[in-house]
Amino acid sequence: MADISGLRKQYNDKSNLFLEENIKTKEPIQLFNEWFDIIKKDPRTVEPNAACLSTCTKDGFPSARYILIKGFGKDGFRFFTHYTSRKGKELEENPRAALTFYWDFCSRSVRIEGVVEKLPFANADEYFKSRPYQSQIGALCSDQSNPVENREALFEKEVKLKSIYVEGEVPRPPKWGGYLLKPMVIEFWQGQTDRIHDRIRFRLPKDGEPDGILTKQGEDGWIYERLYP
Ligand SMILES: Cc1cc2nc3c(=O)[nH]c(=O)nc-3n(C[C@H](O)[C@H](O)[C@H](O)COP(=O)(O)O)c2cc1C
Repeated sequence: MADISGLRKQYNDKSNLFLEENIKTKEPIQLFNEWFDIIKKDPRTVEPNAACLSTCTKDGFPSARYILIKGFGKDGFRFFTHYTSRKGKELEENPRAALTFYWDFCSRSVRIEGVVEKLPFANADEYFKSRPYQSQIGALCSDQSNPVENREALFEKEVKLKSIYVEGEVPRPPKWGGYLLKPMVIEFWQGQTDRIHDRIRFRLPKDGEPDGILTKQGEDGWIYERLYP
């Protein structure tokens, strides 16, 4: 076994905040928006909207993969994919999912958990049209998550599709579309130089849940707590 136990980064970025003391909003989507705005403008960021999407079969077997978030707001976080993919099948039988962002340059992570629903195909059409030609062809080429003979077979499919569809006329694959993850839990993690990291978890309280002594009232129905790191 390769011993990588000594790999450890010192979190000493000046932009590290002490969460809670510094956050102005008590509403997690607004806070996410504030973080995202800073992160997407930072030259050190590569794909700020990349997040690990975790899904689960109905029997409880989890699987995870990266996706690109294509929008977020009070209604949730949206992403696009093939409905017939492994993640699509798992979401069909168990529409619960989690998203995990990690931005290493500023030692921040956000974890989101909630329920997922399909977006109307009109949203998929609109986004698909805005994608570059090669991305559209790529989506049309792919029977995502299913075995393919070899790379050559993919290439032949690509060439064939390009001979049929010119730029601007690639149809959206019928089973390709969007999902909206509606969050119930959103946790903000800020790594600290002293390794005593900050964790603030926002969540929507369960019906009739009594107030915990360490639970604080947020905005828009959210409550929040500081967690041990
Ligand atoms: C940074 C990154 C972004 C990705 N974005 C997407 C995406 O938005 N949609 C998608 O279907 N696959 C995306 N992929 C590919 C997925 O990680 C994955 O390979 C694919 O969706 C099949 O996953 P599944 O077999 O679990 O369904 C991305 C991969 C990476 C590394």
